[in-house]
Amino acid sequence: MKQTPRRTWLPWLDVDVPGYCTSPAETAAFELEAGCASLGIRVPRLSLDASMGDGYEIIQTNEGTTIAGGETGILYGTYAWMEAQAVGEPAPAGIQRPFYPLRMLDCWDNADGSVERGYAGRSLWFEGGRLTWDGARVRQLGRMLASVGINALCINNVNVHGAADNLIEDEGLPSLSRFARALQPFGVRLMVSVNFAQPMRHGIDTADPLDPRVRDWWRLRAEAVWRAVPDLAGFLVKADSEHRPGPFTYGRSHAEGANMLARAIAPHGGALVWRAFVYNCGQDWRDARTDRPMAAYDTYAPLDGQFDDNVILQVKYGPFDFQVREPVSPALLGLRRTRLALELQLAQEYTGQQIDLYAMNPMWRELAEDLPPERVCAVAAVSNLGRDDNYTGHPFAAVNLYGYGKYAWNPRIDPETVIRRWARLTYRLPKPQEDALTDMLMGSREVYEKYTAPLGLCWMVEPGTHYGPNPMGYEFSPWGTYHRADRHAVGIDRTSSGTGFTLQFPPELRDRWESPESCPDRLLLFFHRLPYDYRMRDGRTLIQRIYDDHFEGAEEVAAMAEQLAGLALPEPDRTEAGERMALQLKNAREWRDVVNTFFHRLSGIDDEQGRIIFP
Ligand code: GCU
Repeated sequence: MKQTPRRTWLPWLDVDVPGYCTSPAETAAFELEAGCASLGIRVPRLSLDASMGDGYEIIQTNEGTTIAGGETGILYGTYAWMEAQAVGEPAPAGIQRPFYPLRMLDCWDNADGSVERGYAGRSLWFEGGRLTWDGARVRQLGRMLASVGINALCINNVNVHGAADNLIEDEGLPSLSRFARALQPFGVRLMVSVNFAQPMRHGIDTADPLDPRVRDWWRLRAEAVWRAVPDLAGFLVKADSEHRPGPFTYGRSHAEGANMLARAIAPHGGALVWRAFVYNCGQDWRDARTDRPMAAYDTYAPLDGQFDDNVILQVKYGPFDFQVREPVSPALLGLRRTRLALELQLAQEYTGQQIDLYAMNPMWRELAEDLPPERVCAVAAVSNLGRDDNYTGHPFAAVNLYGYGKYAWNPRIDPETVIRRWARLTYRLPKPQEDALTDMLMGSREVYEKYTAPLGLCWMVEPGTHYGPNPMGYEFSPWGTYHRADRHAVGIDRTSSGTGFTLQFPPELRDRWESPESCPDRLLLFFHRLPYDYRMRDGRTLIQRIYDDHFEGAEEVAAMAEQLAGLALPEPDRTEAGERMALQLKNAREWRDVVNTFFHRLSGIDDEQGRIIFP
């Protein structure tokens, strides 16, 4: 049965964008008519100026309002104006342009309809090995993406497998083309993840990037793909990473691999987005010299300057893998002659799985303190979307999709402004309740960090599922994910006298992290191995700080649960959020007790405040 799509942060747009809108300008005209009718306001004039591209300007005169903009800008301006009207704030003044020209959403959707690390139900566009979608829901999705300026959608998992291989084959192209057309009215261009070894499905016995047969196969394939989808934004590739095929098999570098594909697609204007998530996932835990966070820099720094112009190297924000707290990846700082994309993860794989609250804009803002936004030319975020009615599982998880678009448009945007705006658009609560919801979301990341793995500890999570505590779960695994806690100390020395990881950073950051005295508490155990009786800046011992954070984190969740119950949320959001909050509270208590017991057993040191730590 088809349902009316939920409207998320655009509740006043209560009618579907009709299928007859085929361009962003037509969509803008429709949205304005419908939106202004619903908001009870006068419809502004639209003025298309193709030279403005993504840019727009909202011009208010005595005669009324004009929204001028480029082919996509006119749509962005339309949403910006309506958003301002809906919350009763002034529209942005002057010409507005996005900071990053390429604002990608990477979906880890599999052709069978499942979603890798998906916490919001099945795929919105795959089922049974093929592309198939509910038009109204996809148009609502397009509207959501355009309303925050996201302009590229990579539709399939970077781990390309099963029927996803067919997407760029002749049999897959007609539906890929139709799907691209479904999102064109929203200015959203598709991308696809491709399998580096795809030519081997066609009787070629190698995927060696320097083999002329491989090169020719990709060139011809790219011609066919762009003939079917002329506005395809590019290919995304995960190579030599977690058992995916790649150039290493043939003794070739990642510059050779990426450039071969980049040259095949360059005539069509496509970008070749190459992921830098390369590390040894078959490490022997006994090997203390190999330090996983060093892998991306070690692999790519020697290749800096060797990538073609249409290659974008996509680097996760931290050197591990989307942990709650990591330093910025040194690859993002050290590669000065390579076009870089910053990769974020909206899917809450390690951050509560869209059960626990975790709003991300504050974290991205912190990142900008060490990573100047100009260092990268594009942004990508792993999607948190799925087929659940509300698109994101937890209705509040939508704040991260909304917030990501705002961040991609302006990485210096104030996180609280974003979160409050999302809350106001979505719920229109009385001011004290809006304040409470905003505060709850603003603090949600630090609360989560406290009850899980504070101080940059990382990887205390249940292996595989990545939800719930398991302090020893990754300790003897091949993934390079160790904290090496024993009865005296915890953490890994990643300084110049340890693994040497700090040496990958520019001097200012290296100096800050090199000594425990100058290293901020939040990253202390990422960079240092310290005894439990180590005195922190505030006079507490390390072990006491670990206990305190866990007790406080769980208490703070209990307080959030009370606050949440006091919010006059509409149904079904109230029930959905309430049910998840009960699970979060259980999760927080479990983390508190497991981690505290783990360290108490190891260290034999009691909590100074005599709170309950289980034997
Ligand atoms: C993590 C995640 C995987 C994913 C990988 C990636 O390791 O657990 O599911 O494939 O990241 O980013 O490629």
